[in-house]
Amino acid sequence: MSRESLPDVGIEALAAHIPRYYLDLGTLARANGVDPAKYQVGLGCRRMAVPAPDEDPVVLAAGATARLFDAYRIDPANIGLLVVGTESGVDGAKPIAAYVHRMAGLPATCRAFDVQHACYGSTAALTIAADWVAGGRSAGRKALVVAADIARYDVGSPGEPTQGAGAVALLVGPEPRVLRLERHPEAVHAEEVMDFWRPHYRDSALVDGHYSLECYLHAAESCWRRYREGTRAGFPDFDFLLFHSPFPKMARKAHRRLFDAAMRDGDVPAEADPAADFERRVLPSLWANAEIGNAYTASLYLSLAGLLEHRAVRCAGARIGLFSYGSGSCAEFLAARVGDDEAAWRGRTGLHELLDARRELTHRTYLRFRKEQADLAHGGSLRPPLPHRGLAFCGTRDDRRVYRDAESTAAPVASDVGGDSPAAAAVAPRRTRRVRNGGQPAPAPPRRPC
Ligand code: HMG
Repeated sequence: MSRESLPDVGIEALAAHIPRYYLDLGTLARANGVDPAKYQVGLGCRRMAVPAPDEDPVVLAAGATARLFDAYRIDPANIGLLVVGTESGVDGAKPIAAYVHRMAGLPATCRAFDVQHACYGSTAALTIAADWVAGGRSAGRKALVVAADIARYDVGSPGEPTQGAGAVALLVGPEPRVLRLERHPEAVHAEEVMDFWRPHYRDSALVDGHYSLECYLHAAESCWRRYREGTRAGFPDFDFLLFHSPFPKMARKAHRRLFDAAMRDGDVPAEADPAADFERRVLPSLWANAEIGNAYTASLYLSLAGLLEHRAVRCAGARIGLFSYGSGSCAEFLAARVGDDEAAWRGRTGLHELLDARRELTHRTYLRFRKEQADLAHGGSLRPPLPHRGLAFCGTRDDRRVYRDAESTAAPVASDVGGDSPAAAAVAPRRTRRVRNGGQPAPAPPRRPC
């Protein structure tokens, strides 16, 4: 099949999920004895999403999926492939996809697995799903791609203000009303580097911070050059450029790197203003990242959701470039076109609703949440979840993770296999009640930080 004759493929639907709490970066700066402007202006971050102890990566991934299914009335029976991109795996063997498969009520014929390569895992998952659809294996079914992560660094470390968490669920199919992926020669850069990593014995990442910036920028320019050589497209051919955003300033640095390369290549005139170009083509996609922080695999797709849901910028029909970077490293540049009808996404991703419903934390509670979440990961940690009605991680019992289903006020009894014992689940597989409203509580009136 020639490249041109391949069918359309891309994102048909998109929904997000984020933790119920956030920490203001001014609060964090004051607690760390740092000038708040360093975090807010120097890194470009306003707030960071902080998971409650009962919000683990499975809860985030299942929350985004539930919201996607609700907002777009998707029948789980029509999903034939589930790929979760994550670097926050909760088990050395069992993927997050296995939990999401049950919680979302996906059929036994739906293949499910995780993909890991730092923040690039979600883009790897998206390309696998797109190839599955385009290659004709889907037999009329759709693929579900979920990016879900919790970014955690040591308290007081330079990486701490770039923490965050979130998930994005994408429905991938042949009617890409949200985003059609263009078919172009691959623009990939992979190279083993030690810029960021998390050994199995740690729950927070280690990073060679300034080196990681250089690795990212080198990969961005390298991918861009491959894309340009393969397509002869120029830098100005894109209406918007989206970059993996560990913190918004990073996207500014990446844009500048590509802008300077484009200027050397003669793609942009010598008098062009990089700051104005950044504000027009990159800034509209960054507002949600500044609120949420780094969500690793989900960051680039939160930028996409942010652009789609921007209240003042219209992007229907726009051509966009997406740069995905995963430390370690693997990176890719993708070109895509936004659908023509904004009814396919506006008000459906959940972004505004989720952000409006969040509650602010004090620094003290943020530290307590971190400790409690670390404690819950250990064996025999089962305890009642916090008093809200969403899906919740309740700890472990008999070395199994225990989740409480959404909208249940009952004691946590759901095990990782949907019943109290694997045998019972195998005999009577149970369809979980769908998580309404992405597992998010109703918007609360403004309250003091808790
Ligand atoms: P640092 O070394 O403490 O900060 O940590 P700094 O001294 O470099 O300052 C940061 C910026 O704030 C600088 O701006 C300062 O000038 C400015 P720049 O020169 O870069 O434009 N600044 C101020 N501005 C206003 N008022 C002030 C003030 N003081 C300073 N008073 C670092 C920064 C990024 C290294 C740290 O946050 C870190 O280690 N972060 C984690 C690593 C990271 O995010 N790397 C990004 C690239 S790798 C990547 O994206 C992959 C990743 O997502 C993981 C994955 O793939 O899974 C991380």
